[in-house]
Amino acid sequence: ETKVWKVSAEAPSREAVLEAAALLQDGRTVAFPTETVYGLGADARNTEAVTDIFAAKGRPSDNPLIVHIADRSQLEELVAPPEEAVLRLLDAFWPGPLTVVLQVKPGALSPLVTAGLSTVGLRMPGHPVALGLIAAAGCPVAAPSANRSGRPSPTKASHVLGDLAGRIAGIVDGGEAGVGLESTVVEFAGDALYILRPGGITADQLREALPGTPVVEPQAEHREPNAPRAPGMKYAHYAPRGTMVLVQGASDKLVHACMQRELDEARARGERTGVLTYAEHADRFHADHIVPCGRLDALETVAHGLYAALREFDEAGVGFIAAEACPEEGLGAAIMNRLRKAAGGRVFTV
Ligand code: TXA
Ligand code: MG
Repeated sequence: ETKVWKVSAEAPSREAVLEAAALLQDGRTVAFPTETVYGLGADARNTEAVTDIFAAKGRPSDNPLIVHIADRSQLEELVAPPEEAVLRLLDAFWPGPLTVVLQVKPGALSPLVTAGLSTVGLRMPGHPVALGLIAAAGCPVAAPSANRSGRPSPTKASHVLGDLAGRIAGIVDGGEAGVGLESTVVEFAGDALYILRPGGITADQLREALPGTPVVEPQAEHREPNAPRAPGMKYAHYAPRGTMVLVQGASDKLVHACMQRELDEARARGERTGVLTYAEHADRFHADHIVPCGRLDALETVAHGLYAALREFDEAGVGFIAAEACPEEGLGAAIMNRLRKAAGGRVFTV
């Protein structure tokens, strides 16, 4: 009994948006497309509504939710007036795939949204359906990715329904999400900007928008014990059901040979095998199910298809997946972050 509205992504029907917004105002949960992935929304001020998000997803309650707004004027009720550097970031990337962690005004949101932290992650999404829905609801909308906790994030309405049908009040189906990976989550600490979760906005894009400000990428966290972290990073698995190994190395040849050896061993154990690779390399493997996930020479196509590819292995009943690493530059940083998590730490370097 999850209500589904099919709409055009660019020009969603006003009637559908108003009906979905009315559910949000009524304290119900509604999934909707953003430019990154589908989100599961609820009124961020309403604790019962937010409780339903955590319940539908099976999400641990110490993992805070991102709050989505449709207009800068909504900042006032949620956070203190942002500093100059924050405003420059918002000017550069909003609406868009950037979440900024700021000090929350006491009482502005349900305490469940922030999981007891004094900060909140805020984002203005760049998708007409998301913007229209949030504006029509007239409230800040808490929205994590609309998947069951631990599953790959949804980039299509069918992914959301596969995970959450019957558990949520409605879904606005606006077709495929564009970026395919979640937003970049950032927080200022001292004079530096820390990337808490790599995503749709790259480190270099942030550096370009903030000349002179050090931008610290997640790998550096290990050398910086006081650096802030996104609580969710310890939970996110983005995992397919099969066992996945991620292989990286100095040459394609070595990487492919290692992947094929793992695949052959898995097949000898009687497993159905899968390969996550790129269009350029799709013909280099023998396996039951080969998924060319975008092109290496256009990493945005890899990001766009990654989560659907991970779900495809589940649909094909694949028990063992060998995944090929991509260069960790630009969007590659976010792609590799998700691949490592999907592999649950089974990463081989050859
Ligand atoms: O692209 C996205 O960000 C999508 C769409 C729906 O907007 N949303 C999303 O939400 O990915 P979720 O809940 O799946 O991921 C939220 C991430 C988690 O890693 C969480 O720990 C972090 O943001 N986060 C939220 N509030 C935070 C805070 N106050 N401090 C640090 N990290 C925070
Ligand atoms: Mg998520």
